[in-house]
Amino acid sequence: MGGYVEIFEAGPRDGLQNEKRLIPTAEKVALVDLLSTAGFRRIECASFVSPKWVPQMADSGEVLAGITRAPGVSYAALTPNLKGLERAVAARADEVSIFGAASEGFSRANINATIAESLERFRPVADAARAAGVLVRGYISVVVDCPYDGAVAPDKVAWVAERLWEMGCYEISLGDTIGRGRPEAIAAMLKAVAEVVPVDKMAGHYHDTAGRALENIEVSLDCGVRVFDAAVGGLGGCPYAPGAAGNVATEAVHDRLIALGYETGLDRDVLTRAGAMARMMRKEAA
Ligand code: HMG
Ligand code: MG
Repeated sequence: MGGYVEIFEAGPRDGLQNEKRLIPTAEKVALVDLLSTAGFRRIECASFVSPKWVPQMADSGEVLAGITRAPGVSYAALTPNLKGLERAVAARADEVSIFGAASEGFSRANINATIAESLERFRPVADAARAAGVLVRGYISVVVDCPYDGAVAPDKVAWVAERLWEMGCYEISLGDTIGRGRPEAIAAMLKAVAEVVPVDKMAGHYHDTAGRALENIEVSLDCGVRVFDAAVGGLGGCPYAPGAAGNVATEAVHDRLIALGYETGLDRDVLTRAGAMARMMRKEAA
């Protein structure tokens, strides 16, 4: 027990992408700037997806241009295709993510492609990112349960993880997108993925719909995972995952990790202020 556990802050992206109100760019910039003082190594704050699909993220270039970059912090962006990668490189994203799924139903709903098509699409994105000197992270959604196809087999997740790992992703983030996973299912999935990706290159990305995200983080810690994605204020959800509630709150993950004897390197006061700011953004959106 003990040691450093990293929280990957995804609030400005996964947290805000689902808000109905078009949040002004200046508010997003203010949130990222505050988060930049908290001690995070990575903050996901942009998504270069089709603005027709996710209008909320259309100003991602302006967000990256407007923030004050803190030394040592990597500012991350989602890039579903080459067009997204070009926009991310132009906006000087420090790292990008390609994002696939472990079920055909979710893959189709979220990125309008079968799993096989999506992998074909990702390969040139990963190659071009590497050529531009930009790190690539890989996400897999619906790693235990899919809102369209139901339960997802651990082997299916491992199969997709292996493909993304072979493409050169430096870390694979495993998404319980609709937050219905039970600890036993999460453990079985992690065990299967750990057969093909080193466990210290795996991250847990758990939405908190059923209130089990912290339990799922604990079981993941037992399996050796040491990186968890979270969003300040528990904001978020995926627009193409009906019923997906917020990401697990960064503040809650931090507090649980500290209670378990881990270090996060984060300033709790800043997290409290950022959580309040994020919740205010949501309240104004309501
Ligand atoms: P498509 O409609 O099949 O693609 O969408 P297309 O190539 O036919 O493009 C349609 C239009 O979008 C065209 O414009 C393109 O130019 C434009 P038009 O010619 O009609 O004027 N376009 C773009 N514009 C700007 N930037 C781009 C871009 N790409 C196309 N990059 C596509 C396919 C993948 C683009 C679409 O499905 C998409 O953008 N999907 C993203 C959905 C999304 O953002 N979901 C949420 C993020 S994933 C998530 O939250 C899960 C995660 O948190 C983990 C978890 O919790 O599980 C990561
Ligand atoms: Mg998510």
